[in-house]
Amino acid sequence: MNFPGIAPSIPYILGGILVTLQIVALSVLLGFSWGVILALFKISRVRPLMWFADFYTSVFRGTPLVLQLLIIYFGLPQIIGFTIDPYWAAVAAFTLNSGAYISEVIRAGIMAVDKGQREAALALGVPYRQMMKDIILPQAFKNILPALMNEFITLTKESAIVTVIGVGDVMRRAYQVGANTFLYFEPLLFAGLIYYVMIMILTLLGKLVERRMRRSD
Ligand code: ARG
Repeated sequence: MNFPGIAPSIPYILGGILVTLQIVALSVLLGFSWGVILALFKISRVRPLMWFADFYTSVFRGTPLVLQLLIIYFGLPQIIGFTIDPYWAAVAAFTLNSGAYISEVIRAGIMAVDKGQREAALALGVPYRQMMKDIILPQAFKNILPALMNEFITLTKESAIVTVIGVGDVMRRAYQVGANTFLYFEPLLFAGLIYYVMIMILTLLGKLVERRMRRSD
């Protein structure tokens, strides 16, 4: 192995961390908000909203993420008439996909909150919106934190597929260095190390937040 051979390219590969993190962080935030909305649709009594949310989830979970990304980046411009920046195409695909997974996590979390909480709120005349916002969702959120962390981790690794639409993330940069230097093993191994460290840091952060939340028990 020839690590000195790729040494000059290390800063370039490291620069991809920011790209990867930006896309993932934005998608997780947007995907979470979208997931909450979908979860509320799923537990609402308005049939069309339920149907929409269930159908939406089945489509985005039932097709490969990389396909969704390609449809948004290459397919959509054909219909809307203008091209989409690959960075934003990636954020859109991950947000839409993650929303589907997160909505199921949140729905399960809401269902797991003791029904006495809901009954007490109703008995006290707390309006639905306020009951959700101040009573049910905060408790649900605490229970689903590990599952949300899992989604964060999945998305961080899945983000490597933006390579196929030309976004210069960690993965693509490592691959480019391979193509330029004819040394593939070293930069790809280095990229693997970067992903591993990122996931370890995320795992640690998740544990810290979890411990912090348990303090209120
Ligand atoms: N590789 C899977 C797919 O293509 C990953 C889906 C993304 N998973 C997620 N939890 N957002 O369908």
